[in-house]
Amino acid sequence: MAGKPVLLITRRLTDVVQARAARDYQVILNEEDRVFSHDELIARCQDVDAVLPCHSEHFSADVIAALGDRLRIIANHSVGVDHVDLNAAKKAGIVVTNTPDVLSDATAEIAMLCMLGAARYGAKGDAMVRAGKWDFWSPAFMVGRQVTGKRFGVLGMGRVGQVAADRARGFGMTVHYHNRTRLPDHLEKGAVFHDTVEGLLAVSDVLSLHCPATAATTGIINEKTIALLPDRAILVNTARGNLVDEPALIAALRQGKLFAAGLDVFCTEPGGNPDLAALENVFLLPHIGSATEETRDAMGFRALDNLDALFSGGEPQDRVA
Ligand code: DGY
Repeated sequence: MAGKPVLLITRRLTDVVQARAARDYQVILNEEDRVFSHDELIARCQDVDAVLPCHSEHFSADVIAALGDRLRIIANHSVGVDHVDLNAAKKAGIVVTNTPDVLSDATAEIAMLCMLGAARYGAKGDAMVRAGKWDFWSPAFMVGRQVTGKRFGVLGMGRVGQVAADRARGFGMTVHYHNRTRLPDHLEKGAVFHDTVEGLLAVSDVLSLHCPATAATTGIINEKTIALLPDRAILVNTARGNLVDEPALIAALRQGKLFAAGLDVFCTEPGGNPDLAALENVFLLPHIGSATEETRDAMGFRALDNLDALFSGGEPQDRVA
């Protein structure tokens, strides 16, 4: 190819990542750092060789069909690829990559924050002190649930799930998990494998979701499955909002079936769910699981590594389609 490949970067990345991209590619930036509409995304992807999007850009089948012949790769700045129709990309001959591994620590850390924030009224307590409304204390005041010694259930024991399990072990929790395939001993590290989702739910004092969003997992946490959890369990979701039926979750939190929920992801993003936000027994974050300086640099570099591999005639290491 004559000259540098043309690369559209859809959102603002860290300075070092953008500098490296500008060194090796003819970069088009989204200076406003806002989500492109469906039509804008199609228009911006014309006449480029590559696009480096985030999970906020939706490459549905109709978007992909309208992309034209030039685009060779969608090099995602995310591990999740549920925002890309992989079958449509495959059919169109467009390579798709993601950024696994590099965000596992940061995301597992935020799962711990969500767990503790939910178990110990982190948001309610913070808001009370900030608002100058902390005017009372007693042994019966703001009593949460201790996680030490409890059972930490991992739904989806991939890279992030495994690190979250390690962190939970650090809190003296016993780890249970369900995964499509059982892990070998050196990865399982004594965790208890459940060959059904139902089996896992029945023993999860804290249930932490770490599975990808697919047709099979959409709404996997719903009225029926919540009923299987031990009474007063805690739900943690740092994966994708649509794994959870939010009205069913809200009902369970209101009834006290669930003690609390710690959520970094929602069905509607950005924005979240006002009915969830109205509850006291939730700890809510704005999808910042991978938002550390270290991880955002690493994700950007990993996406660029994938682009470099393709444009130098090789195979990107993180190809998913
Ligand atoms: C991911 O990498 O999938 C995170 O959710 C951030 O996009």
